Amino acid sequence: METPKEIFLKHYKMPDYFFDTVDLKFSLGEDKTIVCSRITVLPRVEGVSFPLILDGQDLKLVSIKLNGEELKKEDFVLDSRHLILASPPTKPFILEIVTEIYPQNNTSLEGLYKSSGNFCTQCEAEGFRKITFYQDRPDIMAKYTCHVEADKTLYPVLLSNGNLIEQGDLEDGRHYALWEDPFKKPSYLFALVAGQLISRDDTFVTRSGRKVSLRIWTKAEDVPKTAHAMHSLMAAMKWDEEVFGLEYDLDLFNIVAVPDFNMGAMENKSLNIFNSKLVLASPETATDADYASILGVIGHEYFHNWTGNRVTCRDWFQLSLKEGLTVFRDQEFSSDMGSRTVKRIADVSRLRTYQFPQDAGPMAHPVRPHSYIKMDNFYTVTVYEKGAEVVRMYKTLLGSSGFRKGMDLYFKRHDGQAVTCEDFFAAMRDANDADFSNFLLWYSQAGTPLVKVTSSYNSETNTYSLKFSQQVPPTPGQPVKDPMFIPVAIGLLDSNGNDLPLTSVFHEGLLHSISSNGHPVSTTVLRVTKEEEEFVFHDIPHKPVPSILRNYSAPIRLDSDLTDDDLFFLLDHDSDEFNRWEAGQILGRKLMLSLVADYQQNKPLVLNPKFVNGMKSILCDSSLDKEFIAKAITLPGEGEIMDMMEVADPDAVHAVRCFIKKQLASELRGEFLTTVKDNSSAEPYEFNHHNMTRRALKNTALAYLASLDDLELTKLALNEYKSATNLTEQFAALTAIAQNPGEARDSVLADFYRKWEHDYLVVNKWLTLQAISDIPGNVKNVQRLLNHPSFDIRNPNKVYSLIGGFCGSPVNLHAKDGSGYEFLGDIVLQLDKLNPQVAARMVSAFSRWRRYDETRQALAKVQLEKIVAANGLSENVYEIASKSLA
Ligand code: ARG
Ligand code: ZN
Repeated sequence: METPKEIFLKHYKMPDYFFDTVDLKFSLGEDKTIVCSRITVLPRVEGVSFPLILDGQDLKLVSIKLNGEELKKEDFVLDSRHLILASPPTKPFILEIVTEIYPQNNTSLEGLYKSSGNFCTQCEAEGFRKITFYQDRPDIMAKYTCHVEADKTLYPVLLSNGNLIEQGDLEDGRHYALWEDPFKKPSYLFALVAGQLISRDDTFVTRSGRKVSLRIWTKAEDVPKTAHAMHSLMAAMKWDEEVFGLEYDLDLFNIVAVPDFNMGAMENKSLNIFNSKLVLASPETATDADYASILGVIGHEYFHNWTGNRVTCRDWFQLSLKEGLTVFRDQEFSSDMGSRTVKRIADVSRLRTYQFPQDAGPMAHPVRPHSYIKMDNFYTVTVYEKGAEVVRMYKTLLGSSGFRKGMDLYFKRHDGQAVTCEDFFAAMRDANDADFSNFLLWYSQAGTPLVKVTSSYNSETNTYSLKFSQQVPPTPGQPVKDPMFIPVAIGLLDSNGNDLPLTSVFHEGLLHSISSNGHPVSTTVLRVTKEEEEFVFHDIPHKPVPSILRNYSAPIRLDSDLTDDDLFFLLDHDSDEFNRWEAGQILGRKLMLSLVADYQQNKPLVLNPKFVNGMKSILCDSSLDKEFIAKAITLPGEGEIMDMMEVADPDAVHAVRCFIKKQLASELRGEFLTTVKDNSSAEPYEFNHHNMTRRALKNTALAYLASLDDLELTKLALNEYKSATNLTEQFAALTAIAQNPGEARDSVLADFYRKWEHDYLVVNKWLTLQAISDIPGNVKNVQRLLNHPSFDIRNPNKVYSLIGGFCGSPVNLHAKDGSGYEFLGDIVLQLDKLNPQVAARMVSAFSRWRRYDETRQALAKVQLEKIVAANGLSENVYEIASKSLA
């Protein structure tokens, strides 16, 4: 293999040719598909000739014409990745290219491929070049028409972007449809679908009176499972009008659900294509978590119509411009549809669990990466979730109305353009006349800033001082960092737990009023911009307890000098609910770390009674939201704790987490039993806040109880399993029972499979549950499941369920005998031959191998080296594996 080429942001160049219109014609067939494209090309500078370089991969070139004349072999250069015209005309011209492709053999699931008999496309990031030769880059925006023809019996439904202009029958049982998209778009938003599909239809009337037909397409038998998706879509359309004043801009909006899809979903203009797991739901086959993801992702893809499609990215380095912003929008949408605090907690947990480790590992990259080998490897939690936190900071600094002004200006300036992260920044700044100092560093510096805070109270002057110091850790290619601009939301609690009124703060020689319209505030946002900095609050009558980083106002690690008593106090009283949860988590992390040390020194484990009491008072506080309680009594994850250790010790962390769980279960057994009883209900399933929070709390309590592996409690869980009327409760009971090896586990797992054999999405959960198990030596079980009839290595969802599930079990992935690593190494190479994107995701589980002890490091390294040395390795896997070894 030639060493893959790295692409750099700093080398961005404007294209020399623009494409004005693109007319595509697809003749879909079983052996081959013929694609004819007719492009009007406009030289950027007329009269000067540059080579025109078209991207193309796995294409068979049939013919190429320029202004109607067939080009000869010597008129162009064709290599495995490009078609190059050395000196095309220096005035506008027409290029016509015919290619042949073989979607039926396309296992990479990018470009045009087949999924359960139907044709579909996935073009983002660089899949369009697997369909035809093109300048496959987002700053090439053109108007498309798409003519599709296919066998009418096999493919009765023919869809593409925009409006249906014409359709009709052809000879030999074939038919066609002609689609026209009135909006200019980059190639990554192109889509085509052909197959046997039925739609659920509805209508949405926009606030300016446009009647939009909504259609959600699936296999006929799945139509009943699309009600929630339709409901989510309509809610999203309404929300975007209300919150951002953004309306839909065409008369038709299609969503197609396909079972074979590399990621979650794709925002192709007016023809969103979704992984079926993010569309299909019924009470019996989907959990509350699935319902919530569907709501969020349907919203996400719909919101892209403005943030992504109407205003798109200049180049792929700017991906967060659309993804960070759109994730932020979908988070806000879900918050408004449910509980804001609980959503915030879930999003921050996700950031900590997945993004922090990435930002501290060999694949660490800024929200706007500086370089990549394969763009697909940069659809990451950093670009998406940390990117969303960056957008959220604008809102924290500007307030809702200032943020909205910035958004309005962004659309006013850039509708129809392909732009950069600076353009977004400038719109926020200019609309508000704001001083954002060095805020842009959030786009260019990788690594999670570590902020330390120390506090002191002066009773003579009635002042309270907070001293901040910040440090951004080195990351690959960025050994030294500048201090960042960190908005820190602060409140101060008095001894009764009430917020103290804040009036003024002294900073850099000046006393600043922080009142709002003459009234003191209870939360203020400090702008921390230096390596070391002090803020002094005035008029503070007695020593307060500070609530720092309320609502998690910046994506940082915070290290404060709060005592355990302060934290218990905040857990009880903070008016910022997020920080109440956070206080419990900090206590949990401290506790786990100290027990891990005891465990490593073979000391007996003893659980601090204060912690038990703290958990108990949360559990029994009927004034709290039940889902909040469920989150607050859930311990920090094992990964989070391992991240905080010098040398990660998966066995010790796992043992400690199990110990605390069981100890809490046995000491609060009575409370947990009451919780299960009080929160059981025979009401029919409804996805609403009241029912969801009830189920969440009940299921959490049940999991605690079942961890005790005691006959009576297993019976209770079994009973819940049998009597459940919905998957949320049934699967939670199954999970609770499956914690403990033995006969009960085996028989209930077998029963569940028999029940759901016919539903692949439910079976996937069954695969995950077994794969993620911490039962020692579980790798054997996972190997066995590879041959189970329900598994298929070609289907990404199944791979994510089984292999991805296994990677989610630290004890077995990092088994000391290396069995987990060897298994993963082998499977990555097998996957890579079929689907590099999916293989690359799996190989990422190795990336933090240096965090473990020497024995484990050596074993993991062998696998990474084996992978990098493999013949014909994809660029996707090469990039992750080689950067992990570097
Ligand atoms: N734009 C899609 C979204 O809404 C994701 C596309 C992911 N593409 C990829 N090659 N991983 O988030
Ligand atoms: Zn997106």
